[in-house]
Amino acid sequence: MTVSPRTRDIHHVDIGTARLIVAPGGAAAALPETGIGSTERRLDGDDKVTGRAAYAGEEMPPGTLHGVLVTSPVAKGRIVAIGTDAALAADGVVRVIVPDDMPALAAPSVPPVAQSFVPMSDTSIRYEGQPVAIVLAETLEQAEHGAALVDLRIEAETPTVFETAETVTPRTEGNGYILGALDPARGDAEAAMRDAAATVDAVYVAPTRHHNMMEPSATLAEWRGGALHMHDSTQWTYGVRYALSGLLSMEPGDIHVRCPFTGGGFGAKGYVWPHQILAPLAARLAGRPVKIALSRAQCYTGSGYQPVVRSRVALGADADGRLTAIRHDTENVTSTADDYVEFGNAGTRSLYPAPNLSLTTRIRRADVGTPTAMRAPHEGPGMFALESAMDELSYALDMDPLALRLANYAETDPANGKPFSSNRLRDAYAEGARRFGWDARPRRVRARREGPRLIGSGMASAIMSTFRFPASARVCLTRDGAIRVEAGAQEIGTGTRTIFPQIAAERLGIAADGIEMVLGRTDLPETGGTFGSSSTISVGSAVADAADALRARIEGLADGTLPPREAWPALLRENGTGELVGEGGFSLPGDAPFDAHGGAGEHSMHTWGAVFVEMAVDEALGLARMRRCVACYSAGRILNPVTARSQMIGGIIWGYGRAMLEKSAMDPRSARYLSKNLSGVHLPVNADIPQEIDVSFIEEHDPHASAIGVRGIGELGEVGVAAAIANAVYHATGRRVRDLPITFGDLVG
Ligand code: MOS
Repeated sequence: MTVSPRTRDIHHVDIGTARLIVAPGGAAAALPETGIGSTERRLDGDDKVTGRAAYAGEEMPPGTLHGVLVTSPVAKGRIVAIGTDAALAADGVVRVIVPDDMPALAAPSVPPVAQSFVPMSDTSIRYEGQPVAIVLAETLEQAEHGAALVDLRIEAETPTVFETAETVTPRTEGNGYILGALDPARGDAEAAMRDAAATVDAVYVAPTRHHNMMEPSATLAEWRGGALHMHDSTQWTYGVRYALSGLLSMEPGDIHVRCPFTGGGFGAKGYVWPHQILAPLAARLAGRPVKIALSRAQCYTGSGYQPVVRSRVALGADADGRLTAIRHDTENVTSTADDYVEFGNAGTRSLYPAPNLSLTTRIRRADVGTPTAMRAPHEGPGMFALESAMDELSYALDMDPLALRLANYAETDPANGKPFSSNRLRDAYAEGARRFGWDARPRRVRARREGPRLIGSGMASAIMSTFRFPASARVCLTRDGAIRVEAGAQEIGTGTRTIFPQIAAERLGIAADGIEMVLGRTDLPETGGTFGSSSTISVGSAVADAADALRARIEGLADGTLPPREAWPALLRENGTGELVGEGGFSLPGDAPFDAHGGAGEHSMHTWGAVFVEMAVDEALGLARMRRCVACYSAGRILNPVTARSQMIGGIIWGYGRAMLEKSAMDPRSARYLSKNLSGVHLPVNADIPQEIDVSFIEEHDPHASAIGVRGIGELGEVGVAAAIANAVYHATGRRVRDLPITFGDLVG
């Protein structure tokens, strides 16, 4: 991120606790000083800003070789020959590994492996940027120089891209990317549309985007004895273990993965990409540790992306604005190897009830890499379409956009009729509208002008699926009286190193400061990945359970009551006890390995929000600026207002990027991204961000989703933002933009 003088504004806006959590009536909830609900600083902040936090790319055990991937410049074809003589003759180059050197691997399990095609397992070229050789050298510069000297002979073919590929139904059998029914339907949407008082029908496009995480992916692989040790930049240490154990036919216990800190992931590090497979193979061939760090450019082809999602949305409503029919057809790009499915109508299933519904989910297979989840998958790109269409419908009905949402409020989940585990969306609408001053908005478009600028306001609903994974954790009282929390989960910037100690502290009745948090290793209690906004709900519940177990053990030593914290070390000494350990877990009904929006249980689980945006548009210059954003959420209990609020601000800025800046444009002739660096791909920087991002949460305790009252928030913040912005641009100018991002050409002329 570019540092501008306005950095201070971003970090110091509105951080007071009292305004962050609001009771349904709008009254500020009283917050305790410590433990849950406190605004304690990030407990890992010092380690990060001083550089003590160790990231995968920084570790360099003695003897480590740098591996640089040689990648294909063409998207489709066949490797004819790889000339390695010049590279091998260069200073410091130790070895050049080519496909012929590679051992046969077992079939990948997708996921945790991100794509079923493992590069260098044959001579086929399936996407531009595909690794075809690895140069190993003593220094990074020598490896990079050697890579430039490798002589690739490739027989190229004309590639297919999204625009030229056929639309097909995804494979469902054996496809790990199927999260629900492809074509849910009820009633007769077409007939209802014909009888509706008002209809809209349009196509919306959310383009391909990349994660652009701050820390490029990196991995260090080292064989000791028969065991593999990796320091990997990942969102899921156990996933790396399982992926490699499958591919290499090794016992999972012989693969040790560590990742104490991950410098952002947003989904790019959720599953296992080729460099994480190739590094251990290279290390085994070389007999030395091998580190492969992707360059920024390689991150564009080496760790997934959010695929373009093209949505056709048609809505029909009666004269009172009640939806009578919803149609939402989505298509996303995927690779020829994997039917990755972006469920662009996931949110459409559960947000508004309508008696007639027709949803379809299709893919187009192109000569590109396999896409992957990116904050916020599914609902993120899809809700731009639905919530833009709802805005269009509000004008067709001459109805206030918020009133239209309220006329279509779902009391139970329209997808399955289940009650929600907890849902305060109605309060979020009201509170968000109050904080924004929505009632003062003129109904007409182009109604407000300030000098050369047109001012408009728009809103959108947000909905995100709640994902849960089983998890385990330990909370330990050490011999010297310290508390240590242990879980295999990762820290990807979201605040897990702060909130897990807080959860343990609350259960033990002590302060969180000073609690040691150990995470990010496969020798720690197993958890799922740090993705799907699932860590707090899943791992947090396991930590709470473990802390309860420890508390019970302490009480057991003290005849059933919990002595004051100061007395705990003496208690251990008197009882001749070493470390006391509490083990805890979080499991899903039927011991399911994963559950989306409540699974087969009795309750439907989602998170919600209401996003309000004010845009200023200068049509002479083709410029648009977000002046204000007010977002209010119903997301279960909020454990830490500081980290929660940061998550939502980050999500809103992420959504601003979707709306106004980001698109990974591809040359349709070569199937190559036109730009693979941060000067050619526009991301929001501090100067893009308005003075005020007002985030609030409705006070809530979800009794069903977890043992600690929470659901998840990480991805919710992105949802709805792009639609709210596009809707505000329409309100300001009368220009409806259905193809993101909104750029100069959409605003002038
Ligand atoms: Mo997130 S896309 O589940 O890392």
